[in-house]
Amino acid sequence: MCGIVGYIGKRDSQDILIEGLKKLEYRGYDSAGIAVFTDNGLEVSKSKGRLAVLEDKLRDEPLHGFVGIGHTRWATHGKPSDVNSHPHTDNSAKFSVVHNGIIENYLDLKEELIAKGHVFVSETDTEVISHLVAEEYKGDIVAAVQRAVSKMRGAFALGVLTEYEPERLVAVRFASPLVIGVGEGENFIGSDIPAILEHTRNVYILNDGEMAVLTRGGVELMTTDGETISKEIYHVDWDLVTAEKAGFDHFMMKEIHEQPKAYRDTMMGRIAEDGKSVQLTELGMTADYIKAIRKIQIVACGTAYHAGLVGKTVIESLARIPVETDVASEYRYRSPIITEDTLVIVVSQSGETADTLAALREAKRNGARVLAITNVVGSSVAREADDVLITSAGPEIAVASTKAYTTQLIAFYLFGLHLAQTLGTKDQAYVAEVLAAMKNLPEQVEQVLEQKTVLRQIADNLSKHNNLFFIGRGVDYAVSQEGSLKLKEISYIHSEAYAAGELKHGTLALIEDGIPVVALITQEELYEKTLSNIKEVKARGAFVFAVVNAGAEVEAAKSVDELFAIPKTLPLLAPAVAVIPLQLISYYASLARGNDVDKPRNLAKSVTVE
Ligand code: F6R
Repeated sequence: MCGIVGYIGKRDSQDILIEGLKKLEYRGYDSAGIAVFTDNGLEVSKSKGRLAVLEDKLRDEPLHGFVGIGHTRWATHGKPSDVNSHPHTDNSAKFSVVHNGIIENYLDLKEELIAKGHVFVSETDTEVISHLVAEEYKGDIVAAVQRAVSKMRGAFALGVLTEYEPERLVAVRFASPLVIGVGEGENFIGSDIPAILEHTRNVYILNDGEMAVLTRGGVELMTTDGETISKEIYHVDWDLVTAEKAGFDHFMMKEIHEQPKAYRDTMMGRIAEDGKSVQLTELGMTADYIKAIRKIQIVACGTAYHAGLVGKTVIESLARIPVETDVASEYRYRSPIITEDTLVIVVSQSGETADTLAALREAKRNGARVLAITNVVGSSVAREADDVLITSAGPEIAVASTKAYTTQLIAFYLFGLHLAQTLGTKDQAYVAEVLAAMKNLPEQVEQVLEQKTVLRQIADNLSKHNNLFFIGRGVDYAVSQEGSLKLKEISYIHSEAYAAGELKHGTLALIEDGIPVVALITQEELYEKTLSNIKEVKARGAFVFAVVNAGAEVEAAKSVDELFAIPKTLPLLAPAVAVIPLQLISYYASLARGNDVDKPRNLAKSVTVE
């Protein structure tokens, strides 16, 4: 889980590499480095810490040259340290490699290389690659990389340079993302498009087992077996400004505010003009196929999994098809019962999460059809699934997911309605009613955002505590789980989410004087029940902050200490509004604790290792 960039052209490469790495820091940020062909040969500069540390170093000792590779790291093998940072070189220092992924058989390869006289200086799997390429080099870097890759097992995106052939940059993709940017008299590599977008809008998206040889004048594409391939250039038509903070202090706050637009964009073109039906023309599923679905499994990680928890209720209540939910890292290992009439839905913002991708492959191997809900066109998940519903959230930079989660909810609503109208489990009037309510969601989210200062005060108080609880019933419980994760990951406050009725079966023992409990009460049918659970914690001294529907404030105020009212929508749609105050509370709590909101410790945006 790292980011890589590379440049070959006529401009000084150092700044281009650093700027590219800044765009990739969300992929990991515990160390960074670059390798550049300078007048002295292939020189490397790298250091532990944020990219800023490397920038300082390069300010004092710049590396000037027209060809280079760069890396921002999130440690997998070997702790963050100068020596474990990339690029890695061989003993002759003539070969330099940046790598994103994991080499599973690196210990075996290392042993073989040590037996041949190679001396290793780091604890990383990547260092094996630089030695292996050096070992395989017989005068042609492309052939050497191909031979090296044929011996490697695992996941890797690579950028490789050798001092023997300073006019070539070799890039390989195998199960880790990599794109090639095509410029005029210059070419680029990057782990994703924003890393190179400032310089070119023309890119090749490599598939697994493909590689590229970049020179100043062109890009040659081939498989790792050496077979020449041709690909269409993908022209990127989105703007780099969307990847900037747009006046907000943090990407997270910017992304929270982008949600109304993201909702509209995700619904755009998917609702019939008369507002009475859903049109998911991008899906290849026939009505006969949908009628034959006997079971749905939703598989995802983290926040995307929490969207799946809401998705389960949405699909079951709209389409009456049984739905199971699994975290992707568990799915494969529980021997799930997957048959040809099982539809597997994988949910992933990045489309590159290793566990989710593995679940997708497991499902396909067992004959299931796979629908991907993802935010990244051209991502691995999008390419390997049978059907894709893109969430049009735009690039999400903050590690804590916000707009990706809520647009995943929108995708589930649309898909649930699509199933319902195909199966006839809901009549047209009901579908139209839900769609009309969905169209109001962006405005309702805006109304919540307008009151964010109130939430800041609440968050300031909550941030003084080290433990708190979230409770809710039904979809409120699913949203509680997302609220709890959001708070944990950026404020570092320990919190737990509980189904409100479950507290008394053990966890109630933890409720003591002053402990904050965030209660969600948006489901009218469950209102009384949740209120009685609130009374249970109040009786034990808890301080209760509740998120309630507008109109229920007066009644709820009798039982809670503080509350926040959200605009009322249909119960099934409430998560798309109720989660907004929870996102804002997490943001402000993180701020109050002086944390790095966008880059919480120990985490990275895209988890491409198991
Ligand atoms: C938390 C968060 C993570 C991701 C998870 C899956 O805010 O963002 O829990 O949701 O790592 O990532 P994707 O959706 O890219 O598969």
